[in-house]
Amino acid sequence: MKTYILKIGGSSVTEKDANEREARADDIRGIAKEIKNAKKKAGFRLIVVHGAGPFGHKLVKDYGINDGVRGVRDIEGFVRTHNSMEDLNKVFMDVFREVGLLGFPIQPSACIVQDNRRITSFDTGIIDRLLEMSNDIIPILYGDMVIDESLGASVVSGDAIVPYLARKLKVDKVLMGTDVDGIFSADPKTNPDAKLIETIGPGNLSTVLEKVSEAVTVDVTQGMKGKIMKIAESLQGIEVLIFNIKKKGNTENALRDLKVKGTRIMLP
Ligand code: ADP
Ligand code: IPE
Repeated sequence: MKTYILKIGGSSVTEKDANEREARADDIRGIAKEIKNAKKKAGFRLIVVHGAGPFGHKLVKDYGINDGVRGVRDIEGFVRTHNSMEDLNKVFMDVFREVGLLGFPIQPSACIVQDNRRITSFDTGIIDRLLEMSNDIIPILYGDMVIDESLGASVVSGDAIVPYLARKLKVDKVLMGTDVDGIFSADPKTNPDAKLIETIGPGNLSTVLEKVSEAVTVDVTQGMKGKIMKIAESLQGIEVLIFNIKKKGNTENALRDLKVKGTRIMLP
């Protein structure tokens, strides 16, 4: 049976543009229902990783803890950011249960350690065992703050968790859902003439990276640029699709291997 990872970007399920700590439960429900429908029609195992939006980025910025966690106030920020991510994760858990999906929360801060913002250890044994136990269990992880050997604690983006897990668990496909149709020649939200880049390979990777800006929203992990850099760094040999998860039908179709508009990345 094939195993897929679906990243649900913070931009698509929170008020990231307005930088308000609010979850859009209806949008999460729409995605959960599409996962349920796809599961009825196609056999696959699934891991979900959701982003943070203001539930993470806003707190990290307000507490000023993106460069390390040292004093008493930083430590409070570290704990509060994790608490906040659990609040968002709880919305996912409740919606998945309501829709009839077996979502199982995995707390990244309890199984990941970083050094200078890079994952150095990630105990994925439990995830493996859950997937082995049943094809219906959906481990759900999220961007979080974790212990960091050099910085005390640091942010681990969902965009870093996804490639790491994909490589370690040898998944068949990675789907990155966001709030735009894929990667464009410029930010499509501010450039109406921006063109969708349908495929990224070794030939155009560096020119694409020059065109993609970090993020206009509050995003301490470099937004779309950070996403592509993480994929390029560690996702060789696995097909990646960046697509608009806000458009109805896209999640179901992507999970069923049907055609979906987006950017396909394939690096040897
Ligand atoms: P998510 O929260 O879904 O993980 P990000 O906020 O990290 O997503 O990145 C998505 C945002 O990146 C889009 O909303 C878009 O405004 C911005 N962006 C900047 N440059 C580009 C580009 N060249 N192509 C596509 N999106 C871009
Ligand atoms: C960031 O996670 C986590 C924290 C800031 C604590 P992501 O980087 O995956 O979040 P989005 O998808 O960009 O909002």
